[in-house]
Amino acid sequence: MSGRVMPKNQRSNPIPSRQISIVLRNTESQMAEADHQTSPKRTPQEGPLSEIFKELNQMVGLENVKELVHEIYALLQVSQYRTEAGLLSNSHVYHMIFKGNPGTGKTTVARIIARMFHAMGVLSKGHFIEVERADLVGEYIGHTALKTRELMKKAMGGILFIDEAYSLARGGDKDFGKEAIDCLVKGMEDRKNDFILILAGYSEEMEQFLATNPGLPSRFPIQVDFEDYSIEQLIQISEIMAKDREYVLLTQTLAKLKQHLAEEKTASWRAFSNARYVRNLLEKAIRHQAVRLLSQYTVTPAKQELMSIRPEDLKLKK
Ligand SMILES: Nc1ncnc2c1ncn2[C@@H]1O[C@H](COP(=O)(O)OP(=O)(O)OP(=O)(O)O)[C@@H](O)[C@H]1O
Ligand SMILES: [Mg+2]
Repeated sequence: MSGRVMPKNQRSNPIPSRQISIVLRNTESQMAEADHQTSPKRTPQEGPLSEIFKELNQMVGLENVKELVHEIYALLQVSQYRTEAGLLSNSHVYHMIFKGNPGTGKTTVARIIARMFHAMGVLSKGHFIEVERADLVGEYIGHTALKTRELMKKAMGGILFIDEAYSLARGGDKDFGKEAIDCLVKGMEDRKNDFILILAGYSEEMEQFLATNPGLPSRFPIQVDFEDYSIEQLIQISEIMAKDREYVLLTQTLAKLKQHLAEEKTASWRAFSNARYVRNLLEKAIRHQAVRLLSQYTVTPAKQELMSIRPEDLKLKK
């Protein structure tokens, strides 16, 4: 903001004369404006971008992800202002690494980011292609480069998301996975800002993957950690998922779910699939509820009954 903005601690100084008072009041209003404009919460209020931010903000937790997306949005917005003002607007590299356990929201967030980049004019199409090792790696010499180049071509103007990307380095130098990595790196250089590459996978494996490919980290300046959800967050997520489907989890159902999640999270911390686990449980409970209702009622059940997921619908294997 302008150099005339004063530090906050000078704002309440006594005002010696009317003239100065006017000057100060003007400065104050500029500061209020500046404060408002630098508020980290400032997001678009209308249009497709506001919808995208609404969707992101409705996701439970993920504070670091929300902050990053806001940062990128601010950067793109200010670049536009700078271009309009005839200033240099440096192009940025947006290739990213997403690190985290299954079901922590990586794919969902990547899809949202694709739409944001499209809405802001960075990506011409904003489509999203999710692939894994088998889609990139071929069976004979030259096949991998062919497959990888083909996928990059398809991803032009959008996001290419490679899940469990560390598996590309699994077989060492002789493996075709290495060829896929080399081909991707070349594509990133040739095509610069035509597409965004996101590599995703478990934190430890991704770190190892980056460490064994020294050329890679600098090509992915944005690295995001997707933390495991807490039990409270998983409960919140399950309530949102139920609400989206026009169901309600009764208080006793929530208590049962909470206890089960605590047990499951400790028993299988590595394999525990966070929000995906909760979604599968809910969908199973919805099926069980349907079976229960059919066997309990000979007439159409009341609306409340059709919506309620009871504890007995939550069938949990011990
Ligand atoms: N923070 C959240 N709030 C609400 N729903 C969420 C949240 N995170 C994930 N979900 C939901 O959980 C499910 C799994 O999320 P997603 O597929 O994005 O996870 P992922 O990290 O890509 O998992 P994987 O590594 O297994 O591919 C989706 O239905 C998604 O909508
Ligand atoms: Mg995923």
